[in-house]
Amino acid sequence: MSGDEHVAGVWFQVTDLPVVEGRGCTVVTADGTEYLDFTSGIAVTSTGHCHPKVVAAIRDQAGRFIHSQVNCYRNPIVGELADRLATITPESIDQFFFSNSGAEATEAAVKLARQVSGRPNVIVMDGSFHGRTMLTMAMTTSKTGYRAGYQPLPAGIFVAPFPRAFEWGCNEADASRRALAGLRHLLASQTAPDETAAIVIEPVLGEGGYIPAPDAYLHALRDLCDETGILLVADEVQAGFGRTGRLFAVDHSGVRPDVMVMAKGIASGFPIAAIGASSDLMGKWPRGSHGGTYGGNPIGCAAALATIDVLTDDGVIANAAARGDQLLAALGAVQRSHPGLADVRGRGLMVATEFVAPDGTPDAATVARVIETARTEHRVLFMNCGTYGNIVRWMPPLVVTADEIYRAVAAFAAAL
Ligand SMILES: Cc1ncc(COP(=O)(O)O)c(C=O)c1O
Repeated sequence: MSGDEHVAGVWFQVTDLPVVEGRGCTVVTADGTEYLDFTSGIAVTSTGHCHPKVVAAIRDQAGRFIHSQVNCYRNPIVGELADRLATITPESIDQFFFSNSGAEATEAAVKLARQVSGRPNVIVMDGSFHGRTMLTMAMTTSKTGYRAGYQPLPAGIFVAPFPRAFEWGCNEADASRRALAGLRHLLASQTAPDETAAIVIEPVLGEGGYIPAPDAYLHALRDLCDETGILLVADEVQAGFGRTGRLFAVDHSGVRPDVMVMAKGIASGFPIAAIGASSDLMGKWPRGSHGGTYGGNPIGCAAALATIDVLTDDGVIANAAARGDQLLAALGAVQRSHPGLADVRGRGLMVATEFVAPDGTPDAATVARVIETARTEHRVLFMNCGTYGNIVRWMPPLVVTADEIYRAVAAFAAAL
């Protein structure tokens, strides 16, 4: 593609399609070819590509003020977005700090937790993905590829087992018990509770395999955090803003985190991220001890406000839940005639199809071939996930139609 010789080659490419336009669930290449996009740019374009209301809000704000730097002056739109987030996040959360990416927001959550608790360590889950900065790389355990060549990484990060019913060959209740025992062992053997600032969990494990944490496990984590004074941080970067068929993935269990991390779907693709916590916790974060040049960018705020309006007023979250049910049912039917498709699971439009070879090992080769064939022969875009790359993940825009779900499942089945 023109100019590619001057673009760093470090980016892993899912495809090299020269995409120049997007609308709804469709992206269009320079020669006018249309593809059905079930990647959503890695679970970002919640309202679809270029939703007219989001585009209008961005255009309008760009004409007024592009960089209202929060230390220099305060544009009212920052407060407007914080007010709006306070109405949609769990009631444990009522103040917000803004930054630019999921990794930056995750780091902000850890900085907040360390400051307010006076404790150094952080527990993450096995299979986690929290970003690619130095600290979030240390918090990311989904693949060695994300950290190889960058070690040593920051210290003070400990890894607890994530409940994996399918992989462990048990039911969710047993998986929750086993994961909780592992966590208690970690607290007894490696990082004592009074040295542990936070437990960080993706309520639906994302990059690590699209595995919903059982509600019982999230409740047990909440109880353990209440017992020990450890802060519970929910990383909703991928699962938030309607992706699981509820506004936030923690809403399924009703578990109230102390800190919530948000990005991706918050603004339909405009780079803005946030953390939320109680005003009590935020009030203990020393003024001036954290910040950033671009946090609370007004165009990002406008894009987020428009996105939230579309998600909450236009039935988009209900659509995500209904299309998710349709998708699970359709994939269940495909699974019946394909024994290699060993597990179909998920919540809302965060669905995994996991492939296992006849000898029981993860089957990444089939996944790679299915993704390639769906793209080249059916013009449908998918991505994989999981430590072994043996899962096709389904993350279409939340505005996806029933017909588009059928087209994507038909392409997947034909490719299989
Ligand atoms: C759960 C989760 N947390 C954090 C991140 C990092 O977000 P970003 O790529 O915006 O830094 C991601 C990105 O995929 C994610 O899925």
